[in-house]
Amino acid sequence: MAAREGVSCTLCHQIQGDNLGTEDTFSGEYRIADADDNGAFTIYGPYQDPVARPMQNNSPYTPVAGSHMRGSALCASCHTLYTPTLEVETGTPTGNNFLEQGPYLEWQNSIYQTGSVQEQQCQDCHMADPQPNAYTTRISLTPNGAVNETWPERAPFATHSMVGGNTHVLELLRDYRDVLGIEASTTVAGFDEKIAQTRSLLQNKTAELAITSTAIDNDQLNVDVRITNNTGHKLPTGYPSRRVWIQLTVRNANNQVIFDSGAPDANGHISTDTKRLDPTCLAIEKSQDFDSNACYEPHRDVITNDSQIAIYETVLGDTNGDITHVLLHADSYLKENRIPPQGFTNSQASAIEPQILPVGVNGDADFNALNNQEGSGSDTVHYRIPAAGQTGPYTVDAKLHYQTIQPAFVNSLHADAGKVNRFKVMYAENPPVVETLATASAASN
Ligand code: HEC
Ligand code: HEC
Ligand code: HEC
Repeated sequence: MAAREGVSCTLCHQIQGDNLGTEDTFSGEYRIADADDNGAFTIYGPYQDPVARPMQNNSPYTPVAGSHMRGSALCASCHTLYTPTLEVETGTPTGNNFLEQGPYLEWQNSIYQTGSVQEQQCQDCHMADPQPNAYTTRISLTPNGAVNETWPERAPFATHSMVGGNTHVLELLRDYRDVLGIEASTTVAGFDEKIAQTRSLLQNKTAELAITSTAIDNDQLNVDVRITNNTGHKLPTGYPSRRVWIQLTVRNANNQVIFDSGAPDANGHISTDTKRLDPTCLAIEKSQDFDSNACYEPHRDVITNDSQIAIYETVLGDTNGDITHVLLHADSYLKENRIPPQGFTNSQASAIEPQILPVGVNGDADFNALNNQEGSGSDTVHYRIPAAGQTGPYTVDAKLHYQTIQPAFVNSLHADAGKVNRFKVMYAENPPVVETLATASAASN
């Protein structure tokens, strides 16, 4: 219901505080109380001693202070999602619950968790745009639009900006307002503003990129590129169609490109998409001896030619251990090298929920580690660029790209039905935006 109707004010504000942040309330199992004997519902807000009378007089709600409104566990109820695994051939549930997304469980394993020095709840990053210093507000006006001076002034105030990373779907919603029947309730300017806020979060608060060394070694240029995750969870987080990758471009003294790994084309495709989009990889059922390794780019620590790309993503495996793009077939991760948040350790992950452990990064000593210290929230990729016959100085440009719906998740939609086809048309007309999270440049001789 929440997904179709949108998440309304009264839904979020009626969620009860009990058992939040536990399996009892994950996967949208939050509790909302029935009306009391007088037909009134309890609605929670973050402030002590709310002025209750006006809302009671004008609505069926009684406002009550609920400290749970300020905590990440509230968001965990909807944003920790387990999906039941179905067997590929029969569609029978296996009894396994697959963690489709778990930003809360990732956050619990970060420097932002409750009680730590750098504590940041989900609300702090996603709901509170910077406020002018010491901003206070009476929150509401009286029904005739006047200010009631006797009502308390409140702070802090959360603007409910609710921005994430998804510029692409916002663009689709904006451009197809008529087809989608949302013209009356939305405006183009409103979507443009949300897209701008989202882009600002992506560019300013999401990640850092640094070229940490460049060196010539005989006929080879060695470049190290480090990504650091600044979010409160994995990067990228959320639905498994997201990916983040590095584009590294090297030019010689004549300004000719001699190496280009991860360059997106106008449709948001990168070179490794050729194998990922092969029909055998997208098919629901695979042959007995199917080799999923041929379908996706593995985690890369060292890159020796530009057909290899450092991509941070999840790759889902079905009950046969083959690659799948069907969410309900997902049984395990074949690849899970999304960059952990700062403070993340594997031992904590095992204790919280083993499904948040990285997969496929064995042997990469600097994945989530810096100077042998686990929990850096960073990864360094080592490029070994062939430069025989080339003349320096070389210019090195690194870009960190992000995409919410990578092409394989659309090409693998097999249903030939109205809504699916409509989405495919919108996607084709509006290819997946590539957002650039960060850039870095360096010169070498
Ligand atoms: C996704 C859940 C969610 C939705 C939807 C939501 N709120 Fe909130 N609201 C919160 C949370 C969480 C807080 C507390 C934020 C804090 O203090 O960190 C809050 C705080 C408030 C406050 C106290 C002042 C402030 O902004 O801090 C008011 C008033 C409020 N919400 C009204 C609304 C109205 C009106 C709507 C619909 C237009 C709405 N909320 C929709 C979660 C939600
Ligand atoms: C330190 C700041 C910070 C904290 C704390 C934080 N986030 Fe985020 N979050 C971000 C940034 C920046 C992005 C955009 C980049 C991305 O998508 O990973 C983001 C993205 C998201 C997205 C959008 C992903 C998508 O699929 O489009 C969701 C959902 C989300 N966060 C939920 C949460 C929840 C739930 C919590 C609390 C458990 C939380 N965040 C805590 C900074 C934060
Ligand atoms: C009642 C369920 C529910 C609760 C509670 C909830 N969310 Fe969400 N959230 C959703 C759904 C569903 C979406 C996806 C699309 C939509 O309806 O906007 C979403 C989308 C988001 C996004 C992604 C925006 C984007 O486009 O990338 C962010 C960020 C987010 N929520 C943060 C939060 C935070 C922070 C909290 C806690 C204060 C929270 N949510 C609580 C259901 C919920």
